[in-house]
Amino acid sequence: MTGIFDSGSGGLSVLREMLKVLPGEEYLYFSDNAHCPYGEKSPEYICERADEITSMMLAKGCSVIVVACNTATAAAISHLRAKFAIPFVGMEPAVKPAAALTRSGVVGVLATEGTLKGEKYHLTRDRYADNVKVVEQVGRGFVELVESGCLEGPHAEAVVRESVRPLVEAGADTLVLGCTHYPFLSQTVARVASQLAPQTDFTLIDPAPAVARRFLDIRSAQAPASAPAPRVTLLASGPDATLKKLYHAFITQSQSL
Ligand code: DGL
Repeated sequence: MTGIFDSGSGGLSVLREMLKVLPGEEYLYFSDNAHCPYGEKSPEYICERADEITSMMLAKGCSVIVVACNTATAAAISHLRAKFAIPFVGMEPAVKPAAALTRSGVVGVLATEGTLKGEKYHLTRDRYADNVKVVEQVGRGFVELVESGCLEGPHAEAVVRESVRPLVEAGADTLVLGCTHYPFLSQTVARVASQLAPQTDFTLIDPAPAVARRFLDIRSAQAPASAPAPRVTLLASGPDATLKKLYHAFITQSQSL
């Protein structure tokens, strides 16, 4: 069984891609929404949460864990890999493909404060994006929008505009969705960006497909899954209404599970 966790429902954007590459696997998804958002919490706090969630997943029989959260990867993946003897797949903002794709020479990164402050992100940015200009913004209020199921409409657009505007004004044409919650807002981000700069052809980058391919490499090396239909268990540390709603809207309906 594969465990996958996030501070909330954001990791469903990664689970969606994992189901595409390995539909026959058994998945346990955990939303730590009683402690969401992680974005402004200390690395120590997030490490403790990740440790507790991993222990729970191991007790339930998971043999691979996908940390479907950029913030938790930045804070905790080294700790998890050092402590637990199973493979972990983590995530970080996709600045490398963004640097290759931008035509304006400016990449905009949207992520949480914790991710943008992390050493891992700085190393990746300095290594793979030193030939372009990288501008960064915390997606203020984005996680709250997704957790409340508000993905579009005037309120969502107003919240998203605040963080997207500085990136567009800096000339970015390629926007990295560096938090797993943000792909749920991708249509709103794209709409707002186009309103702000109608002449620009924007590209939005979600690292989830690359994470799913990495997961497939690890999982196939362990044991090929044989079950024909996916089996997904959803768990949450808080109320699970939005988690179930987003799961059905973005996964069940698009894949006809
Ligand atoms: N979904 C998370 C990420 O990828 C964390 C969002 C939050 O809880 O602040 O960073």
